[in-house]
Amino acid sequence: MAERIYIFDTTLRDGEQAPGYSMNLEEKIRMARQLERLGVDIIEAGFAISSPGDFESVEAIAAAVEKPVVASLARALKKDIDAAWNAVKKAKHPRIHVFLATSDLHLEYKLKMSREEAIRRIRENVSYAKSLCDDIEFSCEDASRTDLEYLALAIETAIESGATTVNLPDTVGYSTPTEIAAMVGYVKTHVKNIDKAVISMHNHNDLGLAVANTLAGIEAGARQVECTVCGIGERAGNAALEEIVMALKTRGDKFGFYTNIVTEEISRSARLLSSTTGVKINPSKAIVGDNAFAHESGIHQHGMMANSLTYEIMTPESVGVVKTNLVLGKHSGQHAFSKKMQELGYNLSKEREDALFAEFKKTCDRKKNITDRDLIALVEALENPETQTWALDSFVVNSGNRMTSTACISLKKNNEKIYQEVASGTGPVYASLRCVEKIIKHPFSLEEYQLTAVTEDRDALGEVFVKISDQSGVYRGRGVSTDVIEASILACLNAVNKMLNEDSKAIGTSQSAVQMSFENDMLMGHTDKKGVDR
Ligand code: KIV
Ligand code: ZN
Repeated sequence: MAERIYIFDTTLRDGEQAPGYSMNLEEKIRMARQLERLGVDIIEAGFAISSPGDFESVEAIAAAVEKPVVASLARALKKDIDAAWNAVKKAKHPRIHVFLATSDLHLEYKLKMSREEAIRRIRENVSYAKSLCDDIEFSCEDASRTDLEYLALAIETAIESGATTVNLPDTVGYSTPTEIAAMVGYVKTHVKNIDKAVISMHNHNDLGLAVANTLAGIEAGARQVECTVCGIGERAGNAALEEIVMALKTRGDKFGFYTNIVTEEISRSARLLSSTTGVKINPSKAIVGDNAFAHESGIHQHGMMANSLTYEIMTPESVGVVKTNLVLGKHSGQHAFSKKMQELGYNLSKEREDALFAEFKKTCDRKKNITDRDLIALVEALENPETQTWALDSFVVNSGNRMTSTACISLKKNNEKIYQEVASGTGPVYASLRCVEKIIKHPFSLEEYQLTAVTEDRDALGEVFVKISDQSGVYRGRGVSTDVIEASILACLNAVNKMLNEDSKAIGTSQSAVQMSFENDMLMGHTDKKGVDR
């Protein structure tokens, strides 16, 4: 009978550490809920001790999801374990994930610790974690470069002390599939108490081998795999969840394993990550890239028409790829709209659905055909009414090749008073952003601006993604409209509202609710937190 492989998702911890991928609290909760819909078994929600923000988001995710285990990372230190436990203890299924490096290289140069001392640390801290929480994972950081005999001793000690999952990371993405299989095989045969724990894989992608190494680890005996949506993560990233899952599913004949992943949720999960972070998915990315199921060449198209199996090893539908189909129009009522949103997997509150329906109706007046992709773009750009200080009332822009662009914009503050300003600039977007800046009286810099068409038609919606910054951090915004200038202003306001909201919170809270020490001590290693990016 096929055996189950447990999917441990670390998008919100190892993935979120990668530059460009950081998310704010609300975004992390949304992502965690999507991971729950995707059916992951374990969500590593963060590294609770690393910052008050991380602590808060691990705690919030623990409260937001029900089915998956929620884990927090902790170094083999009492204060880390306490923070991890405090953050996950209210989860329905909490886990503490303790790690310590075991390779001589890390012990000698990073930790300045003897092998014996490391074993003592493992015993002491895993036992301490076990006294707080039943579900304990222990990771030997840099396991793949650790002397095998010593690795076996470290694992045995961790299991004796209460670990029920033991993880063997290829932290620097150095190993090959045969080496990974040999390491797992060695641990299986040389660790006396290995039957009391699940072996886990955690492979980085520096040589592009993370997924191959993970599959080799599974064949050798691992039953938990650590991975991230789209393979995001430190440096070249982690093993990609969708690639592991679809390899196991598509090649069930070879592997003989199954996962509990709802594969139809894969595409939505990748899209949510991309729309949240503004990082585009590479078109050639396996499983979730735009070209993953595109058959351009005539020979392929001919084969596909005769029998799709000629060139298609899995169907787009099996990973939830949304086709551009005509869905709703001007005459569609809220009932049909609501049903469609549910079909697309959005569980909106009444207020959000009403706001989106109004937006949909406005769009119908300007664009005849509204597709699933249009609806997804609209819902993902929808402002949160609770944090929407500034909203667009009206705008007029003048632009041409023989003139300076000018913008006149009216914004509504807190749904009450209207403010208006005029500004000029070298282009219509520049003039508009200057107008917004004048009205809100809060300077900011534009860090990034991206404009894309949601669909291929001439009357496509334009989707604008911006990153703006002030002294307190970087803020992302998204706007969607048939008018690209309007989309630009909406994206800017979306980011501005986050910025003002964050700044007012910073003024209101001088003392964090969570008091912890964040000294960058020598155990911190590669898990340092980067600067604020919202
Ligand atoms: O890559 C790694 O070794 C890790 C551990 C902390 C699990 O991320
Ligand atoms: Zn890692």
